[in-house]
Amino acid sequence: MKKMLIAGNWKMNTNLFEAQKLAEYVLGGVKNMPKVNIEILMCPPYTNLQSVRDIVENSAIYLGAQNCHYEPKGAYTGEISLRMLKQLDVSYVIVGHSERRQYFGETDEIINKKVKAVLEYDLTPILCIGETLQEREADKTFDVLKTQLDIGLDGISKESYDRIVIAYEPVWAIGTGVSASSEQAQEAHKWIRNYLENYFQEKAADIIILYGGSMKPSNCQELLSQEDINGGLIGGASLDPESFFEIIQKAQKIVESL
Ligand code: PGA
Repeated sequence: MKKMLIAGNWKMNTNLFEAQKLAEYVLGGVKNMPKVNIEILMCPPYTNLQSVRDIVENSAIYLGAQNCHYEPKGAYTGEISLRMLKQLDVSYVIVGHSERRQYFGETDEIINKKVKAVLEYDLTPILCIGETLQEREADKTFDVLKTQLDIGLDGISKESYDRIVIAYEPVWAIGTGVSASSEQAQEAHKWIRNYLENYFQEKAADIIILYGGSMKPSNCQELLSQEDINGGLIGGASLDPESFFEIIQKAQKIVESL
């Protein structure tokens, strides 16, 4: 069966009440689904992790964090460690989102430390990669992806290969309303899968590669139907409970139809 993960990245948006409402709505919908053959993930802000955990506990919905520090503890004012996240039943951690790269100076080297730390804590990193518009126009897309993967995955052992999720998120498609076309996305995803196959010397068919960048109910069907797209990392549309649930339902139908 095709693996599919539908992940909501709430970014810096919800307060306590909004987070609870959103989680409750989606959970209500998921509970009424006759079958759930996909993975569903919500990544609220740190301050909402505990309250969302209390809502989705023991359900088909997993909890994720949007970032982490790579050290277990110490004098890092304002940071959150994996030791803390683990206690809150977080299963996934988004690492290297382009907004962290762009606004908080995260380099591929820092991101690599985070990927390793997440794996050490037995959690699943969602490593985000993607090119800017300028890089795409200069025909550098695959060079950029290669560098981000070469450094981001440096030193990750072969045993961990199927515990890593990659999110291809073209920077020009994030929050712009303009998603990559299904052809552009599939081309990048196929390239990423081939890269992973060479890198880990393993069949990469089982590795989840998410697409992110303006995914919404109106374009998810086409994107998610592509052979090498195993789900979405969804920002804006994940804040609208009905839209997010519609994407979940469409993803479930695609998996069932295969
Ligand atoms: P978007 O964000 O769906 O709002 O484009 C996606 C992301 O940044 O993960």
